Amino acid sequence: MFNFNQIPDVPKFFGRRKGRVVRKAKQFLLDNMLPQMRVTPETVFDAERLFGGVKQEICLEIGFGDGQHLYGQALKNPQNGYIGVEVFQNGVANLLTLISGLKEGDNLPENVDVRDYAVQNIRVFDDDVRLLFKALPDDFFDKIYLLFPDPWPKKKHAGRRFVNPDNLKEIKRILKSGGIFRIATDHPVYKRHVLRTMHQNADFVWTAKCGDDWRKEPVDWVRTKYQQKAIREGRRPVFFDYKKL
Ligand SMILES: C[S@@+](CC[C@H](N)C(=O)[O-])C[C@H]1O[C@@H](n2cnc3c(N)ncnc32)[C@H](O)[C@@H]1O
Repeated sequence: MFNFNQIPDVPKFFGRRKGRVVRKAKQFLLDNMLPQMRVTPETVFDAERLFGGVKQEICLEIGFGDGQHLYGQALKNPQNGYIGVEVFQNGVANLLTLISGLKEGDNLPENVDVRDYAVQNIRVFDDDVRLLFKALPDDFFDKIYLLFPDPWPKKKHAGRRFVNPDNLKEIKRILKSGGIFRIATDHPVYKRHVLRTMHQNADFVWTAKCGDDWRKEPVDWVRTKYQQKAIREGRRPVFFDYKKL
């Protein structure tokens, strides 16, 4: 059987895995709710098993942060299945708070059952997405979201940027033909990096026909925490949709 822990050859991860101490309610959700939502080696191959039924579209969000976009999409589109991936434990706990509504100071229940919540179409992989890549079959997703990835703007750190030929090879493999890879960023260096890297890649085509198609939020958009911070600080996000040929 496939084991996520035995995957070789994944380059070093440079971000944070843990931040502030996780408080009581969030730790409760990590201990009791997360195991019911985790993508497992037994379910990763089969979307129907993973989501407990047939879904119209299967979508992946890489680095969901506090989960606002993932949660918002899943709430609006119960007909779709969403796999959210986040390596930062506090972010995963925030997504679980959004879904469960359980806040610090609330009485902790005896147990939780994710089937009691309004949003039931999210599954979580709480580790480096490059481990998940190795386990996923070809042509699995209809959409893949990469929203405000760490920009690593210094030239000496350029090799750490998520949009790179190795990751694009995996994204191309797991995305269905005609599927959309959406990248959002507010950083000028990363904007140029995405445009250059994707332009050099023959597997994807940029869908934009005019400036509004990438300067304005897409119609189905849900704002993320990082995006709201960028807007407050005067930066202008852009939204690139690439179609897999
Ligand atoms: C700048 S934050 C943006 C978070 C969120 N998308 C938003 O817009 O608010 C980038 C996130 O990607 C996550 N991340 C970076 N590399 C990752 C990887 N290889 N696998 C999973 N998550 C990753 C980080 O932990 C971080 O939470």
